[in-house]
Amino acid sequence: MQEKLKEIEKAGLESLTAITDQTALDAWRVANVGRSSPLMQIFAGLGKLSKEEKPVVGAEANRVKVAFESAFAERAEAIKNAALAKSLEEEKLDVTLPGRSVNIGRLHPSTQQLRRVLDILAEMGFQVYTSREVETDDMNFQLLNFPPHHPARDMQDTFFVEAGDRGDNPILMRTHTSPGQIRAMREYAARDPQNPPPIRIALPGMCFRYEQITARSEIQFNQVEGLAVGKNITFADLKGTIADFVRRMFGEGARLRFRASYFPFTEPSAEVDVECFVCGGKGCQVCKNSGWLEILGCGMVHPVVLQNGGYDPKIYSGFAWGMGPERQLMLRNKINDIRYFWGNDVRFLEQF
Ligand code: DAH
Repeated sequence: MQEKLKEIEKAGLESLTAITDQTALDAWRVANVGRSSPLMQIFAGLGKLSKEEKPVVGAEANRVKVAFESAFAERAEAIKNAALAKSLEEEKLDVTLPGRSVNIGRLHPSTQQLRRVLDILAEMGFQVYTSREVETDDMNFQLLNFPPHHPARDMQDTFFVEAGDRGDNPILMRTHTSPGQIRAMREYAARDPQNPPPIRIALPGMCFRYEQITARSEIQFNQVEGLAVGKNITFADLKGTIADFVRRMFGEGARLRFRASYFPFTEPSAEVDVECFVCGGKGCQVCKNSGWLEILGCGMVHPVVLQNGGYDPKIYSGFAWGMGPERQLMLRNKINDIRYFWGNDVRFLEQF
């Protein structure tokens, strides 16, 4: 019996050294330590042995079993390591190869400019008030002091929304951010109708006009409107605020001028020009030899508009202005065609 165990051990360990893959290893395990392996047969037969033989053979069989188990574990480890070494060899990486770069998205230039404008206005105490893009005729025109057939409506050719017959108050896409003035004033006034609170807001957003698309005009563009309403607000406050904004936006040395103008919702009204960035005021193609670039429209809120917003014009006054972030970018970066903004050409967009 002892002899037989020695043979089993020798044969088992020898055959194990020849094994180099997992399948053969699994088969070896079944053949050498499995239920019907010669070693296990010896364990099964221990009961039939004599009292003297039993402990000796039992101990020897156990020793062989332990030897098999440790040799098996060693072999398994070696096979695993060999497989790893092989895969490292076969799947070699060249760490010196340049990586494949991923295209990174970015904010649209209009969004970037919109945020710059709103950041500056926030520093100056103006809160963002977002108003709707789909408006009613009364908000967009009537309540802003455009009478039904007022010639100023020609300045703002309009996209109407099909919404059944709504008489003289059709639904339309807002042509400017100014209708937000009425909505904001009404909302603020509703908080305390007897004593409406002061307002200092910036109204950003997309506007729409039914126009021929050309290098100078698009059917959609952003505007940012500013509105301040309170007691004792004067034209001097308007000028100071706009001058401060322009310097923060275009630089400390930026020169600007106010020109009298007309808007139905402000009285008096003005337009603001900054000195041409391109020629520094000498006159060039961009400023059409005037040395100045128009950047915004503004004025003192018309008494009728204050009234429509729920603010008594005998007690309250205010100023407002409207400007275009795309226009600012065009002037700033000498972009000569507004169609680039919505043209989805990455070569244009990735410059910002
Ligand atoms: N709503 C005007 C436009 O779209 C711009 C504007 C001018 C807004 C004067 C104002 C303002 O608030 O006071 O052309």
